[in-house]
Amino acid sequence: MAILPIVQYPDPRLSTKAEPVTVFDDALKQLAADMAETMYDAPGVGLAANQIGQLIRLVVIDISEEKNALRVLVNPQIISRSEEVKECEEGCLSLPGIYEKVKRPSLVTVRAQDLEGREFTLECDELLSVCVQHEIDHLDGKVFIDHLSALKKARSAAKLAKKRKEEARARKNKEA
Ligand code: NI
Repeated sequence: MAILPIVQYPDPRLSTKAEPVTVFDDALKQLAADMAETMYDAPGVGLAANQIGQLIRLVVIDISEEKNALRVLVNPQIISRSEEVKECEEGCLSLPGIYEKVKRPSLVTVRAQDLEGREFTLECDELLSVCVQHEIDHLDGKVFIDHLSALKKARSAAKLAKKRKEEARARKNKEA
């Protein structure tokens, strides 16, 4: 297994729609295992393949405290959404340090395939619902700040750029 570098916003791979998975082979299983290891190491509760630079519809999620309930979703699709909407603070490994409130349907039903290509459906509520919708957005070339108003999104992007600059400066000072 390997920890993979995480693509950082605004990399164009984060705004590109990922292609469906058609081959369920050992390479796909290896990629899912590497993505899981990368997510646990970060640490995060979900990771989409776009975020490690692979434009395929593959997502890993683990919202458990113990980090022992890995879910792998291949070609996930939301097949129903509740009318009820909930607002929740979100963050993303591709936009570290940025947290914003996003409104999404509180319940979703997702149809996906496992690593063998077998179909299953998943009823999602609470954090799992937020996480699944956030990760499927990644596969569709969308990040969570795309849900904000243009003004708020610009503010978040500027905050992220400023954070990066400060971190780069701190690193430089350390080296000097
Ligand atoms: Ni994300």
